[in-house]
Amino acid sequence: MKYGHFSKDGTEFIITNPSPPRPWINYLTNEDYCAIISQAGGGYSFYRDCRNDRLLRWEQGNWEIDRPGRYLFIRDKDTRKSWSATFQPLRIPPKSFKARHGLGYTTVETNYYGIRSELTYFVPRKDTCEVWVIKISNLTKRPKNLEVFPYVEWLIGDFHMEIRYRNIMNLYNRIWFDKKTNSILGRKTAVWGDMNIQPNPYLIFFAGSLPVKGCATQKESSLGRFRTEANPAFLGEGKFKNSEFCSGEDGIGLLKHELKLKPGETKEFVVVMGQTLCGDMKIDGRHPWQYPKAAAYVKKLLDKYRDLDEAKRELEKVKKLWQKRILGNVRVETPDKDFDKIVNVWVKYQLYICNFWSRSPSYYHESSGGRGYRDSCQDAESIVSIDPELTRKKIIKIASLIRQDGTSAPGWSDTTGPANHRPNKDHQIWLTPTVASYIKETGDKGILLQHIPYLKDCWIKGWEIDRNWKGGAAKEGAGTLFEHLEKNLNFTFSDVGERGLPLIGHADWNDGIDAAGIKHKGESVWLAMALVRSLKILAELANLINKKSKAEAFLDMAEVMSGKINKIAWDGQWYSRGFTDEGYNYGAGKNEAGKIFLNPQSWAILSGVAKGERLKKLIASTDKYLDGKYGYALFYPAYSNYDSRLGRMTMFSEGTKENAAVFCHAATFMTVANCMAGRGNTAYRSMKKIMPNAQDNYELYKTEPYAYAEYLIGPEHPYRYGEGAFTWITGTAGWNFMAATEWILGVQHDYKGLLIDPCLPEEWKECRVSRPFRGANFEIHIKNPRGAQKGVKEILVNGKKIKGNIIRNFRPGKTYQVEVVMG
Ligand code: GLC
Repeated sequence: MKYGHFSKDGTEFIITNPSPPRPWINYLTNEDYCAIISQAGGGYSFYRDCRNDRLLRWEQGNWEIDRPGRYLFIRDKDTRKSWSATFQPLRIPPKSFKARHGLGYTTVETNYYGIRSELTYFVPRKDTCEVWVIKISNLTKRPKNLEVFPYVEWLIGDFHMEIRYRNIMNLYNRIWFDKKTNSILGRKTAVWGDMNIQPNPYLIFFAGSLPVKGCATQKESSLGRFRTEANPAFLGEGKFKNSEFCSGEDGIGLLKHELKLKPGETKEFVVVMGQTLCGDMKIDGRHPWQYPKAAAYVKKLLDKYRDLDEAKRELEKVKKLWQKRILGNVRVETPDKDFDKIVNVWVKYQLYICNFWSRSPSYYHESSGGRGYRDSCQDAESIVSIDPELTRKKIIKIASLIRQDGTSAPGWSDTTGPANHRPNKDHQIWLTPTVASYIKETGDKGILLQHIPYLKDCWIKGWEIDRNWKGGAAKEGAGTLFEHLEKNLNFTFSDVGERGLPLIGHADWNDGIDAAGIKHKGESVWLAMALVRSLKILAELANLINKKSKAEAFLDMAEVMSGKINKIAWDGQWYSRGFTDEGYNYGAGKNEAGKIFLNPQSWAILSGVAKGERLKKLIASTDKYLDGKYGYALFYPAYSNYDSRLGRMTMFSEGTKENAAVFCHAATFMTVANCMAGRGNTAYRSMKKIMPNAQDNYELYKTEPYAYAEYLIGPEHPYRYGEGAFTWITGTAGWNFMAATEWILGVQHDYKGLLIDPCLPEEWKECRVSRPFRGANFEIHIKNPRGAQKGVKEILVNGKKIKGNIIRNFRPGKTYQVEVVMG
């Protein structure tokens, strides 16, 4: 491929062309601080919430230019040539270029005029900052007198406010050079939460380990009139202007250092930037730069990372941590190397990013801030086999968003608390499967009886900023986790329309069907199916804690709902998608657009609602109408006109986003459904069609080859079918990992033990899975001599044949050799 390749061991993606068709990015993050960075140094950073606590400006929505970023300008004093060491923003073609996106770090290497530079960016394991370790080498035969200029542009605060009120927001800026610590510090004295202004207890900082020969904080006086960072005035001979204070205008962090290099010599230094608590700063003078204590708060962090050895040691620890997270658990080996690479490394990494930050910090869309409820439930479920403790933590937090009436807040932000926007109707069904998976993985059924506070309604009253919110801050009684789940599902079961199917309200899984139920009449067939699935799971949970009659009641409810779906929503060849407030049945054959939707078919299988002939028919219909060269489309045909009965979904251009794109999350639901239906060939091929590292044409696909896209543009788009869009933060990662490991390779956690039920493409004659499970290790060797797609003939554990396909007897600390024969 002309833009780059994976490293040999698959843990780095090495970009060799500075301008791939889209910014190809990485997320450098701990659980509090995150830096998004492209191959050319572009990107932004934020603390705990990517909307309301952003440090750096980046022209979001204008990703084509991919600026500004974390730059290092270099100027040769003798030749007077200048360049930027990350290619951007000056964009002079480098003699060589390599950007290596790794697990927890990104390194950009360039060579200009015989000066080789290597910038490694990372975010420490715990501290709320980012560190750039910079190495510059003189490859020429002459001594070099260089000036180097680390550069960033500040946002500080709320990104949405910034977009609307840019020249008001900068009036709140105070940025200054602190002589005692040789660092640039700054803040806005207050910031926005969701609803109100709050004093800002944080201070941003920017500093380097080299002696400071100049510093600038004002954007305008540094870049110059009619100029940008792509042709900044300060690089001109004698043009660098010190500006130690920036007050009420656009602010930057710009330092000037000198670097003398002998022929062949290499020097290293560090740049550190971030945000930290500055406590209750006493204002002794008139201006913030007279805050005497401010510098003391950042000094510790600055001292730590300005020490080159310490910075490098931390980098190694970060790398180790990520390697442990990613490489130290489930591993697969199949005849398909692309499959192995994405499953063993990159989809797990993507899944961590999703778990840490949900759907907000995008390189493409508006970055609404906070974390979504449904997304977080799915992310937490999907990561359970590699990080059960993380799942547990999230379950407790998410459960604290459930109210006494069984409804759930639509999400939360780590800076402003529970979300108060319009609730989608499907939130209630998602936590139950997550809890079940957690228990199946760990055996920890005690979690069901853990007491968790209910959320007091915050949707109407608003929410005060509580920066240390850990969940359940405003309590209204408490109940066990099981009771929370029960309330959740009881709510959805009774929140139904005239047909008896759940109301869709302001949307269900599909955010774009946002008008179908605003009059509280529209019903969702998909949601009914999802409810059936969760009710069945809740019945299993009830049995675990000996609530037999409850279990029966939940099964009855599931039965009742299945019956209704089968009576009302079967359209002859497939299930329809729903009914609007006016009673319009969408996803039905008689319609012009939106005749058949994917989700009601996949979930008819996932929920067990479809049986016998219907199952066969709906599968044939998905093959016929929805499957294509680049995977399953979300529905067919696309809408070409706004349909006010349905909503925003119908506004997108044909094939984009929720208007009949190949929505990878939904396509992966179908992969799992295909496995449940025993269709190994189709399941595997549908997975391959959207696999980022298995695309045949990156001029067309465009987005990163190492992270799943939210969608590929769908077949009805006039000219962009197959283009990837909105990468990284998508439920695709989680479902994909589950589909690959639990469904295709078929190694599943179960209440009773480790269940093995692969569903393979027939050409796979052999594969291996190794996996920790409840303290033991399993080395599983699957043999498929006859090319079966499904069906386990026998299982041997340490050479002994077991009954059935669940491994029940094992001990922690032991490794078990498992041989599985299909056929
Ligand atoms: C986005 C959202 C997800 C939603 C999907 C379909 O991926 O993050 O929550 O289900 O779109 O609208």
